[in-house]
Amino acid sequence: MGKSSKDKRDAYYRLAKEQGWRARSAFKLLQLDEEFNLFEDVTRVVDLCAAPGSWSQVLSRVIIKGETFGRSAWQDREAKFRQRMLNVFGSDNQPAAGEVAEIDTDTEAASMTENKPRRDVKIVAIDLQPISPLPGIITLRADITHPATVPLLLKALDPEYVHEEAVKHPQASHQVDLVISDGAPDVTGLHDLDIYVQSQLLFAALNLALCVLKPGGKFVAKIFRGRNVDLLYAQLKIFFEKVYVAKPRSSRASSVEAFIVCINFQPPAGYKASLEEPLGVGNRLPEILAERQSLLPVTAPVAPLQNSDSGAWDSAPARPQTADKDGIFEVEVEDLAPVDRYQDIRWVAPFVACGDLSAFDSDASYKLPDDHVSLDPIQPPTAPPYKRALELRRAHGGAYGRKATGN
Ligand SMILES: C[S@@+](CC[C@H](N)C(=O)[O-])C[C@H]1O[C@@H](n2cnc3c(N)ncnc32)[C@H](O)[C@@H]1O
Repeated sequence: MGKSSKDKRDAYYRLAKEQGWRARSAFKLLQLDEEFNLFEDVTRVVDLCAAPGSWSQVLSRVIIKGETFGRSAWQDREAKFRQRMLNVFGSDNQPAAGEVAEIDTDTEAASMTENKPRRDVKIVAIDLQPISPLPGIITLRADITHPATVPLLLKALDPEYVHEEAVKHPQASHQVDLVISDGAPDVTGLHDLDIYVQSQLLFAALNLALCVLKPGGKFVAKIFRGRNVDLLYAQLKIFFEKVYVAKPRSSRASSVEAFIVCINFQPPAGYKASLEEPLGVGNRLPEILAERQSLLPVTAPVAPLQNSDSGAWDSAPARPQTADKDGIFEVEVEDLAPVDRYQDIRWVAPFVACGDLSAFDSDASYKLPDDHVSLDPIQPPTAPPYKRALELRRAHGGAYGRKATGN
């Protein structure tokens, strides 16, 4: 699809270029913030899966520079305007009857757009891809699913960090107000596979969040709404007071994408996030499974089957063996509907559509003025995984094997 036709079909792609955002995703974060006030009192943020960096741009502009957008910008302007009117028409300055109060509109406009930068801000952005520098943002090139990334992140947050100390006192590293993750694999179109890979990114993001969030912190992450997603909401509810599933207007209604917004991090009593044991399990999963297996009801060997032709007894499949003292055999029946086991812990998160409903519909095409000039993307991918494929395709004469003629 050409740039111009993409401008027509994707209003947010066009707007992102016009407003200087590196990706259309910026609008998703802004619309989520409009609904959930994500950045209120926030100074320490981790942006996972951050390339090309539009979410980090939002963080840089809102938290570092103190700009406001959307509803909060409007509220700010209104409040300032009201204050200004009160000053002008306040009891001391009451204009005489018939006198018109003069307002310097230039100063007015300047004071209404005044920014409020925050102090002591720390923002770390991580991605597999390199992220072009952004003012005030520490960028790391790393895989969020790799265990080595946790200490890397902690070191970026606190240069004094010492791994051995953090293992002994994990709580000390909990200093982050907000963790956001827009992680997405390169989608294959095989929904189950895409949802699975996405869930692994979510798992990794949550694990990182549990290692760095301070009590009361927030976690926002992209999810693909698949089967059993309510199980995920229930699991998140263990760690956060409130869990919502949100769909910003700039996220296509036709896509399974949504965002979980988890507010007020309050881990269960006694829970300690551990660098060595992600989500409290770590590499002990086989051990835990074996332990659970040993706790299953004692069962008897399944009675051997007699072959109807030969009359011989087939050997029974190996199973945990013991009959109880009355000689009663208990037979373990395979759970044919494992999903039902989770029935009692399912929980449906409130669904929130966010962003102004009069804003552009991300699924609609819009007519552009005849003199519309299509802009170049603000930040093309620096090293996309498909770069080599594109180079090879170009070398072989494009998609249909035509050799470049140079015309
Ligand atoms: C939708 S993009 C993120 C867009 C970004 N939020 C922005 O606003 O510019 C998804 C990103 O996830 C990254 N990603 C996928 N798997 C990852 C992993 N295992 N570790 C780190 N980043 C990963 C991709 O490289 C890609 O840049």
